[in-house]
Amino acid sequence: MKERIGLITGASSGIGAATARWLARQGMRVVLTARRQDRLEALAQEIRALGGTALAIPADLADPSARQRLVRQIEETWGPVEVLINNAGFGYYATVEETPWDVVERMFAVNILAMIHLVQLVLPGMRRLGRGHIINIASVAGYISTPPLTVYSATKFAVVGFSEGLRRELEPHGIHVTVISPGPVRTEFGRVASGLAVDPGEVPGGLNPEAVARAIARALRRPVREIVIPARYRPAIWINRALPRLVDWGAARQGRAWLRHLEKARGEEEAPKD
Ligand SMILES: NC(=O)c1ccc[n+]([C@@H]2O[C@H](COP(=O)([O-])OP(=O)(O)OC[C@H]3O[C@@H](n4cnc5c(N)ncnc54)[C@H](OP(=O)(O)O)[C@@H]3O)[C@@H](O)[C@H]2O)c1
Repeated sequence: MKERIGLITGASSGIGAATARWLARQGMRVVLTARRQDRLEALAQEIRALGGTALAIPADLADPSARQRLVRQIEETWGPVEVLINNAGFGYYATVEETPWDVVERMFAVNILAMIHLVQLVLPGMRRLGRGHIINIASVAGYISTPPLTVYSATKFAVVGFSEGLRRELEPHGIHVTVISPGPVRTEFGRVASGLAVDPGEVPGGLNPEAVARAIARALRRPVREIVIPARYRPAIWINRALPRLVDWGAARQGRAWLRHLEKARGEEEAPKD
């Protein structure tokens, strides 16, 4: 890990922030990006105070020119990116019919188009170095589509498919590609996806973001194709493929129950407090 230059997207919270801390402790020079500059600067300072090296570059990854500026700035400051961790992403809890079109577009722009574009932008540098590692954060929702996250699942199915082909393209060039698919993780994801001020509720057994950071560090030390974390979701992925009708019933029921729960949480949040 020592001295390698790693770009971590979505580093202002959750999995991205935990990964940046973890990799910086191991000697990686980390570039932190996301939209919230104050969060990025605070994390960069925290890393430097512990003896690490960090650079904070705010960027809205929905914007193609911001992605170009980001990679240009890293290359001009430090040199080519050797490790790219495509982690930025968000979901939106709603039926397909009720998901606003601009949200659909932004979700695809951040969750998958930014990933593809950043890969294109860092690859010439990796090719010059003759090495590199790209880690794409998908989700168990990239294998099992679960309402009311159907649009989000579609972006993550795309991440899984993109990572598979990319791995096959880049293997001969000494550049590794790993796709990491976490189950529920305790981050700001639920708050963002619900639009509520407070997370409407955690899925029992949710992981700490540090567990995903450790899995990323493991994959960098010993490159693997794919990690599903926790591994107990592997049988569920298999059952979804083998017995889709069985999962249809359960997932549809669970999706409706979650939407009812959200409606109640919204009502409580909007109710006047005395
Ligand atoms: N939490 C889970 O249960 C879970 C499970 C499986 C997979 N994942 C995936 O893990 C990844 C990280 O999510 P998380 O759980 O850590 O959630 P999080 O705490 O909400 O973090 C999401 C990150 O993405 C960044 N981001 C969002 N929109 C962006 C934009 N337009 N431009 C730049 N950055 C943007 C956010 O930063 P700013 O808001 O500052 O821009 C934030 O740093 C996502 O890809 C998510 O889909 C999460």
